[in-house]
Amino acid sequence: MDKFLVNGPCRIEGQVNIQGSKNAALPILASTILFDRPVIIKNLPRVRDIDTMLNLLKSLGLKVQLFKHKRTVRISNNKKLKFLASYSLVKTMRAGILVLGPMISKYHKSITSLPGGCLIGARPVNFHLNALKKLGMKYEIKKGYIHAKSKGKLKGAKIKFPKISVGATENSIIAACLAKGETILKNCAIEPEIKDLTNFLISGGAKIKWIGKRTCRIIGVDSLSGTEYSVMGDRIETGTFCVAATITNGDLRIKNFNPKIIQTEINILKKIGAKIKTSKDEIHIMGPKNIKNISSITTKEYPNFPTDLQAQFMVLLCKAKGRSVITESIFENRFMHVGELRRLGAKILIKENKAIIEGNTKFVGAELMSSDLRASVALVLAAIVSSGKSIINRIYHLDRGYENIEKKLQQIGVKIKRLT
Ligand code: UD1
Repeated sequence: MDKFLVNGPCRIEGQVNIQGSKNAALPILASTILFDRPVIIKNLPRVRDIDTMLNLLKSLGLKVQLFKHKRTVRISNNKKLKFLASYSLVKTMRAGILVLGPMISKYHKSITSLPGGCLIGARPVNFHLNALKKLGMKYEIKKGYIHAKSKGKLKGAKIKFPKISVGATENSIIAACLAKGETILKNCAIEPEIKDLTNFLISGGAKIKWIGKRTCRIIGVDSLSGTEYSVMGDRIETGTFCVAATITNGDLRIKNFNPKIIQTEINILKKIGAKIKTSKDEIHIMGPKNIKNISSITTKEYPNFPTDLQAQFMVLLCKAKGRSVITESIFENRFMHVGELRRLGAKILIKENKAIIEGNTKFVGAELMSSDLRASVALVLAAIVSSGKSIINRIYHLDRGYENIEKKLQQIGVKIKRLT
């Protein structure tokens, strides 16, 4: 298993290009099941979750052709679809459940593996299933699989999600595109990746309109035509590099990303002391000599602070002068990085869903274990500001979502090496 060796402390300086968004590309790829004609999707990130989704689509019978160093894909439907989304693919990536909505909507039949729990929380799919049921899907759960079908086309419905869910909103929007009549979805997630998905679907002829802050109206159409679309930039990768620059008193230009999307994060970084200049598609960030603490950050649905940046900001606040508190309100078990950070010298106390971070930490390098995607990158950030060598094990978690992270970090001054 690959590991990273980091020799710290390092200062970050230079320029980095942001990859296409993994969390936008995944639902967009799943939704290609709906299309009758070939679609071309550009700016794919070259990360393992995207490979998994493409393998899942191939396993269903779609034709997948990659171009331009695997950043562009042409997907066409060769009409001989299989209906089984297997456990072996869905278990490694929960977004596999996103093929259920389009399969039912287009083919009225699907056997999709339940994704199961994961380390950061139970992560059930009840909101997905309940919403699809309201659109006319019938299902039974047998031996870990959702056996689903519908009597012909799905039928538009009014659905109010009991809680905001990114995946359930995506599955329902995709399914409603080919349903008969009007669907109104209330209490939707409005993450930028969802807007990217709806823009993609609209470009193929779907009739989707946002008619309120969290309300979306979809009028079903008979079919979607071919389209070409470029995926938005990755806001979590951007946020991660912003933290890297801030924590190392660095000077970094982050290219190919629209800063308006991460205004909440930028405001927090400014409070912490970072100097930030933005233009249409660039962020220039300079880290402060002394990092200020923040009395309270709470993870919450967009446009609030994202849970996917909680671990990275925790590392940053370990270096602040004074105590900070982070509250995790999305997932019930998303503090797994804390134990590893303590091994580097962090003083963090966990009280239910709150992490109380003492600050003023002098990190000293150690051997560490990755637990999930975002926790792993937090360990890399901590290793960058630790004195001496750190080894980070199980970096396959990182490869799920960060493209060439060690090369990008090397180019901006980090002494990091992949040991295979
Ligand atoms: C997506 C993101 C993930 C991010 C998360 C929250 C992708 C591929 N993944 O995950 O990176 O951390 O949003 O921003 O885009 N829930 C239920 N029942 C359901 C669905 C969700 O109880 O049917 C709960 C979850 O357990 C969680 C909360 O709702 O506590 C939010 O989860 P959700 O927004 O659905 O996250 P994902 O779509 O899985």
